[in-house]
Amino acid sequence: MNVAEIATTRHTSKAFDASRRIPDEILEQLCTVLRFAPSSVNSQPWHFIVAGSNEAKARIGETLKGTYAYNEPKVRNASHVVVFCARTDLDEAHLANLLAQEDRDGRFASAEARAGQDKSRHYYVGLHREERKDLAEWIDRQVYIALGTLMFSAAAVGVDACAMEGIDTAALDAALGLPEKGLRSVVLLALGYRGEGDFNASLPKSRLPMASVLSTL
Ligand SMILES: Cc1cc2nc3c(=O)[nH]c(=O)nc-3n(C[C@H](O)[C@H](O)[C@H](O)COP(=O)(O)O)c2cc1C
Repeated sequence: MNVAEIATTRHTSKAFDASRRIPDEILEQLCTVLRFAPSSVNSQPWHFIVAGSNEAKARIGETLKGTYAYNEPKVRNASHVVVFCARTDLDEAHLANLLAQEDRDGRFASAEARAGQDKSRHYYVGLHREERKDLAEWIDRQVYIALGTLMFSAAAVGVDACAMEGIDTAALDAALGLPEKGLRSVVLLALGYRGEGDFNASLPKSRLPMASVLSTL
């Protein structure tokens, strides 16, 4: 596999073919990619909602009005749409849940190792909540790791995608009842196959030159 080839040939689909669906086996792989996305101190401060039915996609699409209406057809015609949600808080219950999962997964050779991991995670959560006061931003950064990982993985298995920040997060949160679940929406990813009107498919890619974005030390 040549990862540079994937990076240079993938593109953001601006229109999807409504008649094509992602095969179950590929969708399952992509869901696994989300579950296994890495995050700082394994905090996994997220939840992913995968909408595949017309009804589910319509619930999301109905929130894309006015400024964001240009994104609605992508949501409607994509095979699946992933709503990337952030936890509104990293409370003690979530931290305890993470630790118990790591324990079950055999991560700790001793009680000290377990306590050390718990302490380290609490330190970082406290750092962002109390000292830097950027807990939500820190959580968002983790969510974007999952987004980027899924975007690249989708391209690797021949699935087209369109990330969307052009969304009304408040309307989406209300439509999906996210606050009641301790969640808020951050970004969407439409997944499927390019369709008629995907003008970006035939446009050349444009990026700043290597020397202006990367230097060696
Ligand atoms: C976080 C993020 C948000 C984006 N939001 C939108 C969007 O709301 N609508 C859209 O059509 N494209 C959106 N894009 C697509 C970008 O414009 C596109 O990735 C960029 O121009 C580079 O083009 P490429 O993905 O085809 O290489 C978004 C991309 C990212 C990564």
